[in-house]
Amino acid sequence: MFSRIALVSTVAAFVGAASAQLTITTPSANLWWVGQSLNTLAWTCSSSPYQNFTVLLANSNPAVLSAPIAIIAVQYNYDCSETITQQQASQAPGTGYTIQLANTLNSTDVYTTSEPFEIKALGASYPASASPSATSSGSTAQSSGKTGGALSTYIPVGMSMAAAIALGLVVA
Ligand SMILES: *[C@@H]1O[C@H](CO)[C@@H](O)[C@H](O)[C@H]1NC(C)=O
Ligand SMILES: *[C@@H]1O[C@H](CO)[C@@H](O)[C@H](O)[C@H]1NC(C)=O
Repeated sequence: MFSRIALVSTVAAFVGAASAQLTITTPSANLWWVGQSLNTLAWTCSSSPYQNFTVLLANSNPAVLSAPIAIIAVQYNYDCSETITQQQASQAPGTGYTIQLANTLNSTDVYTTSEPFEIKALGASYPASASPSATSSGSTAQSSGKTGGALSTYIPVGMSMAAAIALGLVVA
């Protein structure tokens, strides 16, 4: 009984804290991407006030990217996550990258920006919690890797399964 109450209040607290805001959960400082490979973009779709947005890749160093580049013209919020292919984002390995979610009609109207993240060289391991094959930790990225099917079981670090189900991150 107590554990059930604790669980419900934990979920409620999480949902309440995340109300009416759009946050990019992957990539982040700890959830890097791997170059020339499939990578995961995920956002807080259940609390997003926006129905759609343009996805841009930027870098704090103008020598790397002089301006943000659009990698998805129109992304619907209800998808909650997307697998980014090497054709969409073929940037050199490096640090200081950010993802921006912006107004589809005006890409300088940025709704939210990710934490700075690293694109590691082809062959680097995916972060354990964001690996496209969640069952094998420390798997090696491959350019012919798996599609987004495993994304339905992706759970952010520190989130309980119940909270993930409540937020629609996991199909119960
Ligand atoms: C994007 O969402 C807005 C409402 O926020 C809507 O007016 C517009 O038609 C949508 N665009 C597309 C391409 O669905
Ligand atoms: C685009 O968005 C930026 C930032 O919100 C704003 O300053 C600018 O006026 C907008 N441009 C147009 C054409 O609406």
